[in-house]
Amino acid sequence: MNLLVPVILIGVLIIISVLLILAEKALGGGGEKMLMINDDKVIPVRGDDTVLNTLSEHRIFIPSACGGKATCGFCKFRLIEGGGDIKPTEEPFLSPKEREDGIRLSCQVKVKDNMKIEIPKELLNAKLYKTKVARIQDLTYDIKLVDFELLDPKEMHFKPGQYAQLKVPGIDIIRAYSIASHPKESNHIEMIIRQVPKGLATTFVHKALQVGDKIILTGPYGDFYLQEESEREMVCIAGGSGKAPIRSILAFLKDQGMPRKVRYFFGAKSKRDLYYTEEFEQLSKEYPNFTYIPALSEPLPGDNWTGEVGLITDVVDRNTSDLSESEAYLCGSPGMINACIKVLNKHDIKQENVFFDSFS
Ligand SMILES: Cc1cc2nc3c(=O)[nH]c(=O)nc-3n(C[C@H](O)[C@H](O)[C@H](O)COP(=O)(O)OP(=O)(O)OC[C@H]3O[C@@H](n4cnc5c(N)ncnc54)[C@H](O)[C@@H]3O)c2cc1C
Ligand code: FES
Repeated sequence: MNLLVPVILIGVLIIISVLLILAEKALGGGGEKMLMINDDKVIPVRGDDTVLNTLSEHRIFIPSACGGKATCGFCKFRLIEGGGDIKPTEEPFLSPKEREDGIRLSCQVKVKDNMKIEIPKELLNAKLYKTKVARIQDLTYDIKLVDFELLDPKEMHFKPGQYAQLKVPGIDIIRAYSIASHPKESNHIEMIIRQVPKGLATTFVHKALQVGDKIILTGPYGDFYLQEESEREMVCIAGGSGKAPIRSILAFLKDQGMPRKVRYFFGAKSKRDLYYTEEFEQLSKEYPNFTYIPALSEPLPGDNWTGEVGLITDVVDRNTSDLSESEAYLCGSPGMINACIKVLNKHDIKQENVFFDSFS
């Protein structure tokens, strides 16, 4: 009798285990699944992690500025087969046309069964870079320049205006930062990072990051970059750390002898928020095609400011005439970008000639 009890218990346990394995298989949870990418690459997947993490494990790096929290909407891909229905967390980021086309957020879709997906070819160029902080420089009281030396791989090839993602060590959060340096300096990536009060990544950069620290970057990403084949006159508008991608674009154009006419409006609150003023004033002395127009919205009495005063939108408005043949590059907060687009529209800019990077 005493022997019978453990035998029955073991039997019950075996039956439960078999049932669990069968249930797991039926639900597609832990078994091996196939993820087919762009009809030419198949990766075997175990477990049921998200498409974003699964691709990253296979060294395919989808932009994910919020680190998978469904707040940036950057991690889009096209789901062709499998994957289940759209989740409420995806809805705010998908237009009716995108839903129709099968566009989804890779941080929200799990690989639970065999799946066929499509991702833009240019994303296959994004890589993971091991870097070392080579230099940190205070540009203002709340903006720092960080220069990363690329260790492995040693070069990143990017278009002027694109961004990279920085992984904060220890807490593993990811944030996007525009590349502020010249694309030809491919062994170094400079970023201009403004401290956001209580911000996780920016507090780390401003309070803890040291020269010599090892940092992981991924990139390059983004469809905000200089239209190199165009000869149109350019209007650039930026505020705060939005100077970063414009600096890269201008460095590239300078190298070419500034072939296009560029007017660069930079909005700041008071003089202590201005930086790289000498660099851009020098550029305007060297190249008559380039004009730098810094503007202060709230100059302090001690600033002795003789330049433009007012909101950047008003300054652009009063210094601009017909923009029907011009191209615009905007960088900064979503509010600033929306307000600037209204002003540009007033001056007849064509929608297809407006490029912007919203630091949301
Ligand atoms: C494509 C792209 C390029 C970017 N390039 C740059 C760049 O070159 N330089 C740069 O400094 N930043 C840039 N950003 C913004 C950057 O990715 C982070 O969002 C920002 O640094 C805040 O990160 P955090 O972790 O410190 O703040 P979080 O911990 O994410 O946020 C803390 C709190 O601050 C709020 N918050 C977040 N961002 C801002 C903000 N910008 N202003 C005010 N409040 C905010 C949040 O809503 C939250 O309540 C870029 C963003 C994108 C999408
Ligand atoms: S990573 Fe930000 S929404 Fe998916």
